[in-house]
Amino acid sequence: MKFFYGKFFIIAWLALVMPTLVFFDRCGAAQYSVQAADCCKCHTEVCEDKLRKPYVHAPVLEKRCAVCHVDPTVSRVGAAEKRGKRGLAAIKWVARDFDMAKEHWFQLDPDLAGKTLVCRSEGLGNSMYELEVQLPQELRGVNAIENYKTPPEITNLQVKEVVKGMLLTATVVWDTDKPSDSTVLYGLDRLDNRSPVDSRLKLKHEMRISGLAAGKIYKVASVSKDLFGNIGNSAEISFSTAAPLNGAGNDLLQDKAIQETLLVEQELFRAAGKFLLKVTANQPVTTQVGLAPKAAKKADAPVMSSAGLPAGHLPLADTYTITTAVCLTCHPVTKGILSHPINVYPKNGMVIPDDYRTLPDGRLSCMSCHEPHASEYEYRISRPTKKSLCLGCHKNFG
Ligand code: HEC
Ligand code: HEC
Ligand code: HEC
Ligand code: HEC
Ligand code: HEC
Repeated sequence: MKFFYGKFFIIAWLALVMPTLVFFDRCGAAQYSVQAADCCKCHTEVCEDKLRKPYVHAPVLEKRCAVCHVDPTVSRVGAAEKRGKRGLAAIKWVARDFDMAKEHWFQLDPDLAGKTLVCRSEGLGNSMYELEVQLPQELRGVNAIENYKTPPEITNLQVKEVVKGMLLTATVVWDTDKPSDSTVLYGLDRLDNRSPVDSRLKLKHEMRISGLAAGKIYKVASVSKDLFGNIGNSAEISFSTAAPLNGAGNDLLQDKAIQETLLVEQELFRAAGKFLLKVTANQPVTTQVGLAPKAAKKADAPVMSSAGLPAGHLPLADTYTITTAVCLTCHPVTKGILSHPINVYPKNGMVIPDDYRTLPDGRLSCMSCHEPHASEYEYRISRPTKKSLCLGCHKNFG
């Protein structure tokens, strides 16, 4: 039975389940038109009042409400009946990586043994690929990756981009020979600054450091730690903040592979007492792994309402999706222009006022600074001026 849970299992499983895989189309403008009119019948405050404000977000003006609000699995298939055997219950996400990459690695808790996971990968084009992964009853049931006690080898360390947005930011990239985390050390004379650790496991690392001073020569080095705690250190390089440095453009958009049909494969291992799921795609994708909800009892079960919504209301996207993930689908280059961190917790001592939106657990989202729909203020920021916006959270500025 052992081989069932390695690569072979996935291939065997693919062959069996292929006919039930669904390829979703994200660009369903026509498919939303009827629903859009419907949204406005009930939510008049959004559709009329807010649109009288001077700064209206383009997709709101076009009444493309569903693009942002409706649970992506529904909006992309267009109709609840097509959602497959899973029914309408929400997936409980356990690991997500919204960086576009051809390879993703996820460490999964051994407590998940025996559970069925949903692994959803989304490409830059219009495609989404969903696969179920059955974890064996015991961790021992999968092939192990051994700890060879060698540190990750760091190669190709370089500063890809230096841009002046809200802050002066540099993008540092490097490769490692095994999946490992990312930290950047940097400074003027010594490497006395340390970026936060990005604990996602990667072979291709990318990290932005911001708040740099202009017209200086900085030193930079990178550190990557693998699953077993072996730490690799790069040599030190330097770069200048005297002039902007333009990265090699958006590699993702130039990738011809995007024209091809999206294909995703998975392999399951165990390492350092956890499951290790490797997801490989033929083009850059984001990937999320979640617990599959129990299958709906009847195929024709009525559309369930999410908590607090009237029956028949289309299921809404979760907070992370609506306040951050969906924004990045239309503004993928925001990263480059805008260097303020998102998805981070406030530092010790920082109190975010109640009227700034955060994710339920307190992390920053795009909506911490921007208003949804429409505003009196340019860029739809949530305070009259940029300065007052910053000072709301950063009491010690200015
Ligand atoms: C038949 C009337 C009706 C239609 C049509 C309708 N909604 Fe709603 N919607 C409601 C009601 C009632 C609620 C729950 C009360 C509330 O929070 O406003 C709600 C709640 C919501 C919420 C959560 C509000 C909150 O405060 O968190 C969102 C977002 C939403 N609807 C968006 C939409 C979108 C997008 C559409 C179109 C696809 C739509 N609705 C269509 C009646 C409707
Ligand atoms: C660009 C994405 C986007 C579009 C398009 C959009 N919304 Fe929203 N909407 C949001 C965000 C973000 C929130 C705040 C959600 C949060 O903080 O959890 C929101 C909040 C809401 C709410 C909750 C009450 C409120 O005003 O905060 C309703 C109702 C709503 N939207 C209805 C609509 C309707 C109707 C349309 C179409 C005219 C629409 N939205 C278009 C992003 C969008
Ligand atoms: C369906 C595509 C789409 C989505 C989703 C989307 N935007 Fe936009 N956004 C646009 C377009 C189009 C413009 C206008 C761009 C321009 O004029 O250059 C825009 C403009 C903006 C602007 C500039 C100010 C303005 O209102 O014109 C901000 C800020 C912005 N978006 C933030 C967000 C945030 C935050 C989210 C997530 C809640 C988001 N956008 C989601 C398409 C989108
Ligand atoms: C810390 C506050 C803050 C956060 C968080 C934030 N923004 Fe902004 N954003 C701003 C400000 C301020 C501007 C006004 C332009 C400027 O000063 O660069 C802006 C401008 C923009 C613009 C217009 C840029 C242009 O040059 O036309 C877009 C689009 C945008 N933001 C999208 C986003 C998205 C998407 C996110 C989440 C990934 C986000 N913002 C998170 C503060 C923020
Ligand atoms: C909603 C609250 C909030 C607002 C508004 C806000 N910030 Fe921040 N800011 C944060 C948080 C949280 C962090 C991350 C905490 C940390 O540095 O560890 C942060 C970090 C920073 C950093 C350090 C960046 C880094 O990479 O280390 C700078 C600089 C900064 N913000 C500038 C600004 C400016 C300028 C504005 C106004 C345009 C602004 N912030 C608005 C919450 C906010």
